Amino acid sequence: MTIFTVANTKGGVGKSTSTVQISTGFALQGLRPWVVDGDKKQTSALLSLTNRLNAGFPGIAATELSDGGSLRAQVRLQSPQFDHTIIDVGARDSGALRAALTVTDVLVVPFAPRAYDLWAYENMVELVKEAQELRDIKVIPFLNMAKSDDGKNSDNALAIADIEALGFPVAPVRVGNRVAIDRASAAGLNVQEYKPVDEKARDEVAKLVQYILEFSQS
Ligand SMILES: Nc1ncnc2c1ncn2[C@@H]1O[C@H](COP(=O)(O)OP(=O)(O)O)[C@@H](O)[C@H]1O
Ligand SMILES: [Mg+2]
Repeated sequence: MTIFTVANTKGGVGKSTSTVQISTGFALQGLRPWVVDGDKKQTSALLSLTNRLNAGFPGIAATELSDGGSLRAQVRLQSPQFDHTIIDVGARDSGALRAALTVTDVLVVPFAPRAYDLWAYENMVELVKEAQELRDIKVIPFLNMAKSDDGKNSDNALAIADIEALGFPVAPVRVGNRVAIDRASAAGLNVQEYKPVDEKARDEVAKLVQYILEFSQS
């Protein structure tokens, strides 16, 4: 039983999207995930997963807990009933994020290839290092909305170098900017369940899910 937190103090990097893809990816492997939505204001993983349920797909348990104290207490109480817990926290340096860091085993950090995001990562790194003094937290940063590697574009490499310079090795898996991921996630579906199937999106997400499971057990 692992408690994952999907976090980045920067908004719009794909936290809620990744939460839907990772939780549905776990479910497709026969695992029972529980999603905790700690982000009231943004496009929510909870709403997407409710859309999924209403569309007749096998349900995924999801709960909104945006107050830090409640989040910590409820995650401690309820997470043992599930194979894995995935917490989607808000963009800001919120109470929910701080509380999540006190219970989490693995921090999954999606980041986008944009140079101006660096300041947000520095803020995030401070928080994570603080949390790591109290708990052994594994950190998995991965490149989301990666640009296509046509040899001309250096944005992917620059963003990865920025993160690694802050002391966190970046996962050897990346997820592209793909319409199927956007649409599937809004419907609460894994790209594997979404039609028409985008094979690249499906393979990228499958590799991410696999990597996260293996790394968390290492
Ligand atoms: N890999 C991706 N491919 C395509 N669109 C994506 C991808 N990741 C995120 N998005 C889109 O980017 C926007 C922001 O993503 P979201 O998950 O809401 O970010 P956050 O939760 O970090 O604020 C959404 O419209 C989402 O659908
Ligand atoms: Mg979000």
